[in-house]
Amino acid sequence: MSTGTSTDRTADARAGSPSAEVAELLDVLRGYLDLAPQLSLPPRAFTSPELYELERTRVFGRSWVLVAHRDELAEPNSYVSVDIAGEQILVTRDADGALHGMSPICRHRMMPLVEPGATGRADSFTCPYHLWRYGLDGRLIGATHMRRNPDFDPKDCRLPAFAVEEWHGFVYVNLDAAAAPLAPELKRISGDLTNYRLDEMAQLGSWSEEWACNWKVAVENAHENYHVMGFHPETLQQSTPGGSDTDVRVDSPWALRLLVPFTEPQEAYALPLTDTEKAHLYGIFVFPAASLAAAGEMVIWLSLIPQTIDRTLVRGGILVPRAALEGADLDEMRRQAETYAGMINSEDRNGLEAVQRAVGSRFAARGHLSPKEPGVVAFYQNLARALLRADDDWPGGL
Ligand code: FES
Ligand SMILES: [Fe+2]
Repeated sequence: MSTGTSTDRTADARAGSPSAEVAELLDVLRGYLDLAPQLSLPPRAFTSPELYELERTRVFGRSWVLVAHRDELAEPNSYVSVDIAGEQILVTRDADGALHGMSPICRHRMMPLVEPGATGRADSFTCPYHLWRYGLDGRLIGATHMRRNPDFDPKDCRLPAFAVEEWHGFVYVNLDAAAAPLAPELKRISGDLTNYRLDEMAQLGSWSEEWACNWKVAVENAHENYHVMGFHPETLQQSTPGGSDTDVRVDSPWALRLLVPFTEPQEAYALPLTDTEKAHLYGIFVFPAASLAAAGEMVIWLSLIPQTIDRTLVRGGILVPRAALEGADLDEMRRQAETYAGMINSEDRNGLEAVQRAVGSRFAARGHLSPKEPGVVAFYQNLARALLRADDDWPGGL
């Protein structure tokens, strides 16, 4: 066991040398790649500050994270800001329609240009502290009272850029500006969802809330339909029962597809859905945080983004074919859609917050998984791959 303080160990994790506790947890995770034991994670995986520190850098520091639907960034000069595991990001659509991802931390003395969670429209961003001004592409376009500092060249000053990519209307950000593109990873899923015509869908309703649980508690829940009988007896259990046969297909290291049969096939008017599509819910998960459920002519997306070790931002929306909105009472449709999604979300939230209260118990322990939870093991495998991926700054990678 490590004899260092918690602060020392966190500093160790930052510096790149794993503590004994993290090394042990990583060994457990490595085991999922070799033997795929049908066991849940050790409780410490949900409470270890050192593991969380590694997740911040090795998972969320270099993975594609879904942050918004295109409709939230439809207008020129619109923006969305989200906190991803302690790193605030700002995504903008400039006047020419191009998307940009960047850090909104002012290059003067570190004031954030906007609050996390802020959305809206702006021609430029003025820092509230000393009024430096930045364009929507992150370039500095004005700095007050700086002329007499000979070392300062405004041309060299810009906000750090992140990678940003739009996949069928979903806006993803990667803090690693040199990240490999996302679309090739999702090619097979694009094919699966052709008939849902994601590019022609409109966001009818949306939400952004915070759940008091570790992000993995929320994400593993999204990888299985087994919990539906417990958490959603009056809602989802009626349409996609927890006991039904779920087909899990792992597509790429980072994406997987769940196929869950409906008790009754869905109707389709605006989309050319096949009988198989009408008969199944298509659940897609893109590691580490994005989930998408195509259910007949409705698509629900969720992104489960850590804010701290025990708080998760849940951002999501409901999409419908644009054609289905023509002549409809939009407010009423939105109200119904948000009420339904709100009900399901609060069922998950109540349950998962209870799990979070239990993971710190001295009597919490790893449990056996059901054959209905292969998606959970696939998530653990992705987590292991992401945490153990070799790189220059950390020994002991794969
Ligand atoms: S911190 Fe932004 S202008 Fe000073
Ligand atoms: Fe659920």
